[in-house]
Amino acid sequence: MCGIIGVTGTDGALDVIFEGLRRLEYRGYDSAGVALVDGATLWRRRAADGTHSVDDLVQTAGAAPGGATTGIGHTRWATHGGPTPENAHPHLDCTGQLALVHNGIIENHAELRVPLEGRGHVFRSQTDTEVLVHLVEEELAAGAGLAEALRRALGAVRGAFSVVVVSANEPDVVAAGRRSVPLLAAVGEGTGLVASDISALVGRAERYFALEDDQVAEVRPGSLRVVDLAGGPVEPTAVVVDPAWDVEAAQKAGFDDFMTKEIHEQPRAVADTLLDRRGPDGALVIDELRVPVDDLRAVDKVVVVACGSSYHAGMVAKYAIERWARLPAEVEIASELRYRDPVLHERTLVVGVSQSGETLDTLEALREARRSGAPTVIVSNVVHATMAREADGVLYTRAGPEVSVASTKCHLAQIVALDLLALVLAQWRGTMGPAAVGAELDRLQRLPALVEDALGRAKDVDAVADALAGARDYFFLGRHVGFPVALEGALKLKEISYLRAEGYPAGELKHGPLALVEPGVVVVAVLEPLQDKMRSNIAEAVARGATVVVVAPDGADVAGLGDHVLRVPRVDDPILAPVVTVVPLQLLAYALARRLGNDVDRPRNLAKTVTVE
Ligand code: M6R
Repeated sequence: MCGIIGVTGTDGALDVIFEGLRRLEYRGYDSAGVALVDGATLWRRRAADGTHSVDDLVQTAGAAPGGATTGIGHTRWATHGGPTPENAHPHLDCTGQLALVHNGIIENHAELRVPLEGRGHVFRSQTDTEVLVHLVEEELAAGAGLAEALRRALGAVRGAFSVVVVSANEPDVVAAGRRSVPLLAAVGEGTGLVASDISALVGRAERYFALEDDQVAEVRPGSLRVVDLAGGPVEPTAVVVDPAWDVEAAQKAGFDDFMTKEIHEQPRAVADTLLDRRGPDGALVIDELRVPVDDLRAVDKVVVVACGSSYHAGMVAKYAIERWARLPAEVEIASELRYRDPVLHERTLVVGVSQSGETLDTLEALREARRSGAPTVIVSNVVHATMAREADGVLYTRAGPEVSVASTKCHLAQIVALDLLALVLAQWRGTMGPAAVGAELDRLQRLPALVEDALGRAKDVDAVADALAGARDYFFLGRHVGFPVALEGALKLKEISYLRAEGYPAGELKHGPLALVEPGVVVVAVLEPLQDKMRSNIAEAVARGATVVVVAPDGADVAGLGDHVLRVPRVDDPILAPVVTVVPLQLLAYALARRLGNDVDRPRNLAKTVTVE
């Protein structure tokens, strides 16, 4: 997730920008860059040397102009175009007088780029961002001031963005705009700043403001003017910054820990993963999926390999791949696949799923698959990760960096990314027509709002967590796509609460585990889908005296079903339901772990990225 800072009216602007970038480092990045307005020219430095880019920048900035008071800085989390110096921000226009940084995705960058090139603009990167700087350049050439030029340019853009621009021709102005991606402004005595989050601004100004969607700000030393995209003036939304906040508290954006922050970032993670996936004709396109279409058409089996939560996302995908693409799909624990003799060949598509893209078990399973001649695709949240480099194709989740060891927003993003993969296979194999693919994409687009709705019910989960105090044994049950949800709920609980928790397919209960169900045991049952069958399995647990918590969609009849009901919004297609039904289970694990006083971000014995076997 990129980080942005812009300053004006600040002595030692470069130091303030570097300090801001360091405070934004926790968001994760793979390259970084700065630009300063130096009299009538721009000075720019960029670095893309892995995790030490800000330090590298500091090293190479020796020849920086001393007196500059205006500039911008950026840490880039690559989406379009690899993490190279050319793709790092700021991007310059053709005159070299304008520098721009961006966080988000410009959905229509390809269609905007063609006419810009036709009018003579020269592109120097593979990013979606670069169209923006040339669009602003054209508006400036037509006579607009910097903020006005940015406002007009943004009118042509579809997608999600926060964007900040400076010009050598207006050395006291930082212009900024946003849609769907956070951007804050701050004003102090003779200074003005903008940044992606409050951590970069804390302690640097007296007054703080949040830009809202489709607003453009003109920041000058000591002043802020905001207009909407139509050009009408608007009153900026003031933000109260807790005086007790230090940089770390600000990075958590007021949440107590990264886990709950990341749980609440899930609607954005899902929405961003779905952005920019439709071509001009409405067909599903996955730009970064480098495997030739003909190879994918020839596939006769899909094998998904992953570990932990990523494995559970793969299990959800099995149902989608089989239903939509009509392909046999297997899901394998990565550490198991490589030590048997898997039957893989050039028509087996092997899909690795990994938040980090570095998990050794998954990496080695993918290498094994490549040795067998199978085409490989990795679903990764990290663009330059080893798996993303080695696999034949990639599909990026765009959840932004996940700090907490327990995966939450990446898990949801993985499910929707794999749904996209299943749909694109269906589209190319012709098992679904364009209308059916389009309808499913529409349903996917509705998920962020449903996840938001589910998050809004956290108080219900808290009440259940209070009622469960003291319980130590949990079973999580589900059927069909509810089964991987049950596994994920159990994994979350054991990871951060250290309570015993097992996930089971509900129909399997009576084949053994039911012997363990007795008073004091908690059974968490995911009602959707196959509600009737689930009701019977829930009755088996109720009859043995278990405390039963049912996760049920709005409107489902839950009379007599259990002790506690956690309602979730109804999802149009049951295959997509896990994206919503897993949310109360994440919240329950979190609530129980907090009540036990555990460190939810850094649970004992566990690491965020597992690079050992
Ligand atoms: O980075 P990866 O997605 O490959 O990691 C896989 C697992 O280690 C990971 O999902 C782990 O299970 C999480 N801590 C679950 O919350």
